[in-house]
Amino acid sequence: MANTIIVGAQWGDEGKGKIVDFLTEKTDIVVRAQGGNNAGHTVIHDGKKYVLHLIPSGILWPEKNCVIGNGVVIDPVSLLEEFDKLDGQGILISPDNLVISNRAHLTLPYHRILDSFRESGLGGKKIGTTGRGIGPTYVDKSERSGLRMSDLFNQKKLVEKIESKVQKANSLLEGSDVEPLVTNQIIEELNSAASRLKPFICETTTYLHERIAEGKSLLFEGAQGTYLDIDHGTYPFVTSSNTTAGGACTGSGVSPRNIDNVTCVAKAYTTRVGSGPFITENQEFSDRMHGMGREFGATTGRKRRCGWFDAVLVRHACRLNGADQLAVTNVDGLDGIESIKICTSYELRGETITTPPADSEDWEDCTPNYEELPGWGDEITAGAESIDSLPKNANNYLDRLSELCETPVKIIGVGPDRKETLFRD
Ligand code: IMP
Repeated sequence: MANTIIVGAQWGDEGKGKIVDFLTEKTDIVVRAQGGNNAGHTVIHDGKKYVLHLIPSGILWPEKNCVIGNGVVIDPVSLLEEFDKLDGQGILISPDNLVISNRAHLTLPYHRILDSFRESGLGGKKIGTTGRGIGPTYVDKSERSGLRMSDLFNQKKLVEKIESKVQKANSLLEGSDVEPLVTNQIIEELNSAASRLKPFICETTTYLHERIAEGKSLLFEGAQGTYLDIDHGTYPFVTSSNTTAGGACTGSGVSPRNIDNVTCVAKAYTTRVGSGPFITENQEFSDRMHGMGREFGATTGRKRRCGWFDAVLVRHACRLNGADQLAVTNVDGLDGIESIKICTSYELRGETITTPPADSEDWEDCTPNYEELPGWGDEITAGAESIDSLPKNANNYLDRLSELCETPVKIIGVGPDRKETLFRD
């Protein structure tokens, strides 16, 4: 298979994990290149449910290789918890099927504390982060004061850096009811994690280029989504990495020249967790989804906010990621809805706009312009086994999404299992 980047076209949770799992069959190596354990991919594989945070979902395939690239931020303790959980589910993880970049930055306990501390000081302007310390880790990376995987094996540097970071964090926490951090405890935990992780750590950029030279194919598993991108998202309500296609290259060291295909993944409607603008958000629609037991976050268990499909967002996402095709997941979530809305443009202070604004205040002032398409009544898409067996109106809806997003919808999801993924011509 061609080297492919999978990118979320909305605010994350588009069902990328499942699409990656589905496409992994035809690929050799699955790569994570950005984000950290803020990501939560729920994958149903061979009838069993797995929740993955840092480990690429290719791990569920015994003969495939997985890479955690330099752009990922890694909480070593939680990575090992993920190893153990998967081990308990019968998934073998070894340096033969997983390698981790020596350049990846470490998320440490003070990052998590600073994350919650910062959020608690923001009052009504909270980002609604996952609380995993992702932002503060990337702050240290950009500030050039972070620790990387390779530093786990340099005791002097490790102790010095952690001591100074802990001191800083503890002085911020003074007077709060948060327990101060203890350097030795952090070092002990890290040392024991380091000895387990050592065999997995290598220079993954060279590893990937050597595999490319051998003719192996790569699948880049994007985490979060386009509108959580630090540059292109709904800033400041975003995550701290480049979640768009370019992030796959910088976060792995694989050149854009080596990429053959970009697949954007969108839900058949829209969801978002955490705060920030969401123009097509709709309470009735959200209640309906939660009532069906759908749309609870995989990482934090939070109820996701839900709304109609926003073609302004997805069209722009397809453009800026250079999407060759669109995968539309959760089509079955629209089963039983009489009339389905699609947002085609926004009204912003008397002007009709067709691309997302940059300014968060402009986002707040935008209202959606909708077109309405008939639903598929009593017919259902859930569990459909072929495109031909889909209700006619479901195919019409998908054709309309292709037109509005200027990108063909070639893959659809009609249920959580890998088998419930269909190809369209
Ligand atoms: P952080 O990445 O934890 O700093 O959170 C920043 C924003 O990104 C918050 O709105 C989170 O809810 C959101 N976010 C982070 N990771 C994911 C994800 O994997 N899916 C959906 N939203 C996410």
